Amino acid sequence: MATEDHLRLANIVKSCHESLRRLTKEHGAQVAWQEHTSPQNAKRLLEYANAMRELASIWESNMERNDSSMELQARSRIKWAIDYITKYFFTEGIYMQKRQREQRLLKSYTSEQQLGEVTCQFLEEPPDRLRVLDVGSCFNPFANSPHLEVTAIDLCPATDDVLQADFLKVDVTPGLAEPEVCEGSVKSLPATHYECVIFSLLLEYMPSAEQRLLCCRKAYDLLRPEGILVIITPDSQHVGKNAHLMKNWRYSLAKLGLLRVRFEKLPHISCMVFRKAISLELSRHWASIHREEGMCEAIKIPQDES
Ligand SMILES: C[S@@+](CC[C@H](N)C(=O)[O-])C[C@H]1O[C@@H](n2cnc3c(N)ncnc32)[C@H](O)[C@@H]1O
Repeated sequence: MATEDHLRLANIVKSCHESLRRLTKEHGAQVAWQEHTSPQNAKRLLEYANAMRELASIWESNMERNDSSMELQARSRIKWAIDYITKYFFTEGIYMQKRQREQRLLKSYTSEQQLGEVTCQFLEEPPDRLRVLDVGSCFNPFANSPHLEVTAIDLCPATDDVLQADFLKVDVTPGLAEPEVCEGSVKSLPATHYECVIFSLLLEYMPSAEQRLLCCRKAYDLLRPEGILVIITPDSQHVGKNAHLMKNWRYSLAKLGLLRVRFEKLPHISCMVFRKAISLELSRHWASIHREEGMCEAIKIPQDES
């Protein structure tokens, strides 16, 4: 049951989202984002960051206390993501299975002359410590995970181990060895560098479908071949309710070169994994033959429709 403190924290988070949505309605997404991220709003962003950190620790401890079964614990989004990343790169070698599936697809598309010349890129061996970029990290929930070397970034960090950055404005630069930080903010991130990019409860924070798509495009540029983008998004509806939106996400991301490899609906969240396909042409072709009427390149969320 929600305590008074829990409700107070949830209200801080909710009112920050509402204020950004209100600004967007009045001035459009770009101006709204400018105002939202301006120094005048810094106090509110910090209040949000601290509330989010406290809330997350309440959720985690509720899961551990209320139900001793492994099932509820496994529903934690952080655990879900770590479990999948481990299976994908290490314990189940899923990246290899997906590579073989793409190679089969490629063979059938080229033999039917649906595709011409394509270039393919592969991950050599996964490194012992995977390079992970956690965008919208807030309080660095993936820190201290074995096998993960995490770079955590956020508009307004709640903890010292998170770097300040507006992901929408950060450059992605080929040839960089590590993030370029200037006056406490990340200016540039290395292209084709990370085995994994994480968007946990990030995309719906942003007020427009185009901004969300831009984030996904940047994730593509940041990932190494066969690297994965893990997206966790809030969803308290039953699994079919937002199916049309999820299909459109799948289409839009495939157009960018990211093929969906996992979708799991858990209570209150949907968890998805997209991988950087071995070939951009293959992924785009998959999108073009699976496009349904009304689909467009955008990452829409239910709030856009209300
Ligand atoms: C709902 S919180 C999620 C925090 C954490 N990832 C989790 O799963 O608990 C969303 C976070 O995304 C951050 N954020 C939103 N837009 C961002 C952007 N363009 N660049 C960096 N961080 C952003 C917010 O500051 C906020 O801390």
